[in-house]
Amino acid sequence: MNDEGTGSGTGGDGSRQPVHRPVLLREVLASLQLSPGLVVVDGTVGAGGHARAIVQAIGSGGVLVGLDRDSEILAAARALLLADVGGGRAEARVSLHHLPFSSMREALAAAGQPRCDRVLLDLGVSSLQLDRPERGFSFMADGPLDMRMDASQPTTAADWLATVGETELADTIFRFGEERHSRRIARHLVAVRRRTPIVRTRQLADLVTEALPGGARHGRIHPATRTFQAIRIRLNDELGELERGLQAAHDCLRPGGRLCVISFHSLEDRIVKHFLRARFDVVTKKPIEASGDELRDNPRARSAKLRCGIRREEAA
Ligand SMILES: C[S@@+](CC[C@H](N)C(=O)[O-])C[C@H]1O[C@@H](n2cnc3c(N)ncnc32)[C@H](O)[C@@H]1O
Repeated sequence: MNDEGTGSGTGGDGSRQPVHRPVLLREVLASLQLSPGLVVVDGTVGAGGHARAIVQAIGSGGVLVGLDRDSEILAAARALLLADVGGGRAEARVSLHHLPFSSMREALAAAGQPRCDRVLLDLGVSSLQLDRPERGFSFMADGPLDMRMDASQPTTAADWLATVGETELADTIFRFGEERHSRRIARHLVAVRRRTPIVRTRQLADLVTEALPGGARHGRIHPATRTFQAIRIRLNDELGELERGLQAAHDCLRPGGRLCVISFHSLEDRIVKHFLRARFDVVTKKPIEASGDELRDNPRARSAKLRCGIRREEAA
């Protein structure tokens, strides 16, 4: 259910610095089958964890084209990856772009590459987004109800929640959160917003909890998890982006090239599975999940599913 993508914790040196742990790293590298000189698109470069390993594997002569729609995160990735290149550990050319992955054609063209050999998409939000209350993604700490992956977009979650109709709100919570109490939650939120604007993450989490019947308030996950997921997916058009991004990956990959996608909930995984079956030779008949060792270190990997396919030859 949960859709959190990467982990953070205490630094190995005992500091409280966030430690970035790319999900399923070993499995991603095995599925991508990298070799020196390849052109690779990382469509969700995030904090650069996977990208860093890719850059090292493709070596000098390789090209990494990285995209993220969060400019703040991209700056962190830039610092990490360019430090690698500058420090001489890897010499691949790195070209980073503040763009959604549906625009990978444009990013490849800007890097002077007509096509690519590999595409990686590691979907969802980064721990760098979740762990910063001011970004408004998490109910674990109070912050403004924002949830925009791309802060240059005009509409925040608070703006959307202030004007959306009750039926659309209920349908969104049902469809993107798979929340069976969606109608009760929508009714309560619409009644409350007539008196008070809903503008904080904790406020929304408390209101969702209040709307639920007593028995539904004490499950395995926080009672607001599904509603937060739904609003985030809707606000960022995550499923529409995924469909366009898969098509773009298909168009950009050379025949024989590989597409690997990590998803974090069933709505994404279903789209990926059907797209790969229709357009690719599927490598992962069943999705690859995190090992027990990884889950011990990084509980956020528990819902990650990796699927991989090989781009078919072009029809003659
Ligand atoms: C799970 S994190 C990726 C972590 C990354 N693989 C790493 O090792 O650091 C997901 C990232 O994808 C970005 N993202 C989500 N949807 C996107 C989209 N449609 N286009 C570009 N970036 C996107 C988010 O901003 C976030 O930084």
